[in-house]
Amino acid sequence: MTTMYDIVIIGGGPGGYVAAIRAAQLGMKVVCVEGRGTLGGTCLNVGCIPSKALLTSSEKYADAVKHMAAHGIKIDGVSVDLDAMMARKDKTVGDLTKGIEFLFKKNGVDYIQGWGRIIEAGRVRVTTTDGEQELNCKNIIIATGSEPSSLPGIEIDEERIVSSTGALALKDVPAKMVVIGAGVIGLELGQVWARLGAEVKVVEYLDRILPGMDSEIAKTAQRALGKSGLKFTLGRKVLGIDKGDTSLTVRMERLAKQTEEELEADIVLVAAGRRPFIDGLGLDDLSVQRDARGFIAVDDHFQTSQPGIFAIGDCIPGPMLAHKAEEDGVACVEMIAHQNAHVDYAKIPAVVYTAPEIAGVGKTEDDLIEAGIAYDKGTFAFRANSRARATGEVDGMVKVLADPHCGKIFGAHIVGPHAGDLIAELVLAMTVNATVRDVIRTCHAHPALGEAIKEACLDVLDRAVHA
Ligand code: NAI
Repeated sequence: MTTMYDIVIIGGGPGGYVAAIRAAQLGMKVVCVEGRGTLGGTCLNVGCIPSKALLTSSEKYADAVKHMAAHGIKIDGVSVDLDAMMARKDKTVGDLTKGIEFLFKKNGVDYIQGWGRIIEAGRVRVTTTDGEQELNCKNIIIATGSEPSSLPGIEIDEERIVSSTGALALKDVPAKMVVIGAGVIGLELGQVWARLGAEVKVVEYLDRILPGMDSEIAKTAQRALGKSGLKFTLGRKVLGIDKGDTSLTVRMERLAKQTEEELEADIVLVAAGRRPFIDGLGLDDLSVQRDARGFIAVDDHFQTSQPGIFAIGDCIPGPMLAHKAEEDGVACVEMIAHQNAHVDYAKIPAVVYTAPEIAGVGKTEDDLIEAGIAYDKGTFAFRANSRARATGEVDGMVKVLADPHCGKIFGAHIVGPHAGDLIAELVLAMTVNATVRDVIRTCHAHPALGEAIKEACLDVLDRAVHA
């Protein structure tokens, strides 16, 4: 007798696997279909986790070469063992992906390795290495994520012209690397290879880095990243790449002057955005609607234009972030179980794991100005924070934007040490509608980086103590 599943989830990334576990917790019979061979999706296999492993390893190397002397520690003969660094990264990834298989077993989630195709609502065909298998279900959740998008005329070969996937597995440190796109991927992976010895030039279409993030914070970050070795070439549109035998030539237009320029490189990283990964799912045959940019259109219950077929994560509109996909997955499953659930996309934090780290949540100052919303602003520089002084990580600031009448927090932005962890306090504050006064009357340990958040909130009220 064939199993009737409550939910078939296609895709085992952070959206899909978390949705599967939540469904099992709610007593549903659930199966997760994943074709990659390992669970965890882009995030665990070729994204967030391996990039953080390499960011950490390369930072330790940079510390040993550049920063330890300031602490009175002399190290001679430091060198990079790239094979060992990559092996550590691969082990971190392997341990975590196996951890999800364990969680599936623990929660009673079925897992099928294969590529799923939707035949109709309630029927999914899975192509496995052993042949085809059909699954019957009440609901289908598409959680197939995204893939790197290239630029017109540029073919990613993952050898010399790489996406993030290839840039996480280079066999040697390139002498010259050009990164196309000063977004999250370009900055994180650019910094990895710059620390390991490459000359890294980042080419960006806009006249600023990190579009979408607060521009004052992005400018501060650009200065700090420049000091750490990244070279920025802004306001350039990449037109193409000529492949020579030994080197690559990146052709670009300098937009302000409408002139053409060239850059030489051994490796080019194309980090110009990602697109939904939905080919082969059978969506066209089913007339599942998509928006103008190709993302699957869903209603506020994550339902597609076809009843019984839902979609979450990177393949639907919204921030393309692992933690957003997780929130989508939990909410979607809870709504299928007739519970109340909601994801507030206005309170999803974004983090760039460079040094210094960059993090933000809610409205940027640019958003507020554009919308004509009155706001009070408080800032606090890490240079005036005693913990940052003790560790020597003094670049950056905390910025809090609040309603001048009631102190409700519109948005918060941080560039500096551990920004990605520090932002959590302000995400919680915004989620529970806490005001800057609530943050101020919360006791913050001393000496700690979190005091900079309290001081920025105090500064909103012109009451900063240490500035
Ligand atoms: P992105 O959208 O963040 O940045 C792409 C950049 O490329 C933009 O600044 C754009 O103006 C520029 N660009 C586009 N075409 C160009 C051209 N012809 N010439 C020069 N510049 C050009 O995309 P990215 O960095 O590839 O990341 C993709 C997604 O993955 C993002 O949504 C990001 O949030 C997510 N991600 C998140 C991470 C995190 O949370 N730490 C880490 C890595 C990726």
